[in-house]
Amino acid sequence: MKIIETIAEMRQFVREQRGAGKTIGFVPTMGALHQGHQELFHKAGERCDIVVASIFVNPMQFGVNEDLAAYPRDSEGDARKAAAVGVAALFLPRVEEMYPTGYATQVDVLGITDLLCGKSRPGHFRGVATVVTKLFNIVQPDVAFFGQKDAQQVLVLKRMAADLNMALEIEVVPIVREADGLALSSRNAYLNAKERQAALSLSRSLALAKQEFAAGRRSVQELKQLILEELSKETLAVIDYVEVYSYPDLAKTETVAGQAIVALAVRFGATRLIDNLILGGTEGCY
Ligand code: PAJ
Repeated sequence: MKIIETIAEMRQFVREQRGAGKTIGFVPTMGALHQGHQELFHKAGERCDIVVASIFVNPMQFGVNEDLAAYPRDSEGDARKAAAVGVAALFLPRVEEMYPTGYATQVDVLGITDLLCGKSRPGHFRGVATVVTKLFNIVQPDVAFFGQKDAQQVLVLKRMAADLNMALEIEVVPIVREADGLALSSRNAYLNAKERQAALSLSRSLALAKQEFAAGRRSVQELKQLILEELSKETLAVIDYVEVYSYPDLAKTETVAGQAIVALAVRFGATRLIDNLILGGTEGCY
């Protein structure tokens, strides 16, 4: 596996691969790689001739009081894991390489960024859309792979790619979970044993919503109430939001008709976790 730190070198690598007629699958990440990321690499390898991954903890997508400085970093472990699943090139740019002095451009997707994590984390999706645009321009992939774990991120990036006529496809990979239901996340590393146990209330409350939906419950108010009650059994759970919107347009609705997303953001100590479930959709999203 090639480790690449500069944009010029990354471009050169991409030129060579393209020249050899290879299709490029791209997986952008912020590192602290886990089985969720591994699944994206795996899917990219199945679909494309070569896999390029990036690790860049993007300062632009973190708010001033967020965990940028504390974000888990493990470049050596990450390189080992990426190599083990057949990643051909790992792009590890420094902050100054991505945002040199004088940098002044941002990409803003309007509308769907006003709710859920966009509301709780103002500017977050502007940072995500900007860095992903830059990474797409540098790597020029045929297909880019993102996880359903960050459901709103996927919707924002699909909107952006369509609106800006980006010549690539976005493939979405279902949420990878621990055996007990907790969705894998680099931020799970922050949890102490009690918080880790309490965090199971996320997947438990989604499972409850899924079960009630299967039994015929369609009222958004009632589904939200059930989830809130389940979460509030955990004294360590501090709710940021519990929302049910129609999917994929994220419109407010009183009754679930067609597909809907149940989206949760909950704090356990200093750690904010998100999880989601698609109702009325294909199996495997949960
Ligand atoms: P990061 O949190 O490192 O996630 C990288 C990719 O892995 C994202 O597409 C995310 O949805 C996916 N992922 C994380 N946990 C997952 C899980 N349990 N199951 C399936 N996929 C999972 O998301 C980001 O980084 C950044 O915002 C980024 C897109 C790299 C832009 O900076």
